Amino acid sequence: MANDTKPTGLTHERIETNNFLMIVLILIVLLFGGLVEIVPLFFQKSTTEPVKGVKPYTALQLAGRDVYVREGCYNCHSQMIRPFRAETLRYGHYSVAGESVYDHPFQWGSKRTGPDLARVGGKYSDEWHRIHLINPRDVVPESNMPAYPWLEKTLVDAQSMPNHLKALRAVGVPYTDEEISKASADVQGKTELEATIAYLQVLGLAIK
Ligand code: HEC
Repeated sequence: MANDTKPTGLTHERIETNNFLMIVLILIVLLFGGLVEIVPLFFQKSTTEPVKGVKPYTALQLAGRDVYVREGCYNCHSQMIRPFRAETLRYGHYSVAGESVYDHPFQWGSKRTGPDLARVGGKYSDEWHRIHLINPRDVVPESNMPAYPWLEKTLVDAQSMPNHLKALRAVGVPYTDEEISKASADVQGKTELEATIAYLQVLGLAIK
């Protein structure tokens, strides 16, 4: 019977009946697939170069971004509009990679308990954001977003900002020496609430 003959050479049966060989070959296939998909992205201009109009965050916007990360806003908000009609009708132009080249790490997220924020900049007034962050229910009665009343009472840590900008420059954000040296002064006396609003108000403006 054909089943009794031992397979010779690298036949399919040989691979399927040898766990180790199977694992090694699977890894090679995955590695190759990964390289083909990922490596070209490092060299594609559309993923490594900022789209026209994207500027590095100012010190104040950056401080607001830190609040966004610290408070875990990304647990409920994505910043990634997918290229589907339902998304672009609701949120605006879909997100492109060149918009987040200065975001380290990016805040694309994947969980949407609340709406996507990729293009929330300019959608509301600063005053709306102020009331909304202190108590969302004051402007959106049915909202289940948590309140962040302490942001209004906490000052931004001005001292740490120059080093923060320097660290980002080390990973490719083109901050000038001048911007770095005045980073502390830029946020001096500002509350975390003001910083968060400055950050929200610039989101997505480059393409709108
Ligand atoms: C538990 C989930 C949750 C968390 C955490 C959360 N949000 Fe929200 N957010 C929501 C929901 C739900 C809405 C929609 C209702 C509303 O407008 O309040 C919303 C709405 C918003 C809006 C208005 C968006 C629009 O287009 O109308 C902004 C801006 C916003 N959130 C910012 C933030 C920021 C900044 C943080 C962190 C400090 C945060 N959210 C944390 C759930 C959340």
